[in-house]
Amino acid sequence: MRVCSIVGARPQFIKAAVVSRTLREVAEEVLVHTGQHYDEEMSDVFFDELEIPKPEYNLGIESDTHGRQTARMVAAIEPVIEEAEPDVILLYGDTNSTLAGAIVGSKRDVAVAHVEAGLRSDNRSMPEEINRILTDHASDLCFAPSRDAIRNLTDEGITDDVYWTGDVMYDAILDARERSAGQSTILDDLSARPGEFILATVHRASNTDDPENLAAILDGLADAPLPVVFPAHPRTVNRLQEHGLWERAKSKLELIEPLGYLDFVRLLDTAERVATDSGGVQKEAFFLETRCVTLREETEWVETVECGWNRLVGAETAAIREALTSDWVPRSTPRPYGDGLAGQRIISLLQQHLDDGETEPQL
Ligand code: UD1
Ligand code: UDP
Repeated sequence: MRVCSIVGARPQFIKAAVVSRTLREVAEEVLVHTGQHYDEEMSDVFFDELEIPKPEYNLGIESDTHGRQTARMVAAIEPVIEEAEPDVILLYGDTNSTLAGAIVGSKRDVAVAHVEAGLRSDNRSMPEEINRILTDHASDLCFAPSRDAIRNLTDEGITDDVYWTGDVMYDAILDARERSAGQSTILDDLSARPGEFILATVHRASNTDDPENLAAILDGLADAPLPVVFPAHPRTVNRLQEHGLWERAKSKLELIEPLGYLDFVRLLDTAERVATDSGGVQKEAFFLETRCVTLREETEWVETVECGWNRLVGAETAAIREALTSDWVPRSTPRPYGDGLAGQRIISLLQQHLDDGETEPQL
């Protein structure tokens, strides 16, 4: 079995690490990095820390308008697929790199498998929502992290070769939590104490590109009752500067460079709570039982909200302030995202599909 895995952005390196490790024991993997994220701290650090093999291809696409970036990825991925002749293209999540891989797979008639299939925020103004929908509809195998994700696919008429696998980020965090507690020195580096700081990340287009939203979030975070540690995504740094908010942010928050995975997990595990618009961070907070204040109106990780670990507050200063200040208590701690074996399940399903030409009936 030859699998071409396509990654390009920070969260995809973390997800692919879980699968690649075991995949390479049973299959030939051709790893393609589109180059969507390219700064050392947005890319190399994850390959080093998580011991992800060096990509066989780095397409070096880097930043551009989203249309052009996706088109350039499509043009660069196609000859790789021609050369590598994989049995299946394996895609993760909802970035432009994901969509580009799905387009090439469907045009070249190569099977496409999508990890994190079926997630929906029902907000079509989000670029990621369109990427998810198009990728799921172009995929031959859909690996869903939750039962809700399977329902979403069913509602859109996608019922063949849909499998519940659990979530690969749960696999990742089980390993990283322990390793980070043993290895990370980030608390000492920042002179931070467990339970005495709030962690924050912001990078979503709707929050960073709109100066009013970004300012409202800053004001909400600035009123937090504890110091706010803010590892800033390069997009957010650029927008803070462009919108004239940089000095205000620096005076109110502890702005730091983006962190490696182990340092980030250590902070998330020990933070009093987290404020974020990240998809992955909402889920990781839930896994680590850190209360999460989500700076969005909706989420695709609905289970985290239903049980009370996650509160959706949008880009509203007063709502952010209230959620960071009041002492709300989660109702329950369910486990909707599997058992930490999602990676292995995905590999078995790929093997079955490719060996038999088809998979077992749905799980
Ligand atoms: C992308 C994904 C988003 C994901 C996020 C993970 C899409 C549409 N968006 O958003 O779903 O949550 O990655 O972090 O695919 N930049 C750098 N250095 C880098 C990377 C980016 O400076 O290494 C800057 C560039 O100015 C770039 C901007 O960040 O224009 C945005 O990068 P881009 O990859 O387009 O989108 P993200 O916001 O990172
Ligand atoms: N992350 C990290 N360092 C940081 C911020 C986030 O390692 O400074 C990790 C985080 O633990 C999670 C992933 O990056 O696994 C989330 O990526 P991001 O928020 O960029 O994207 P999203 O999940 O929203 O697509």
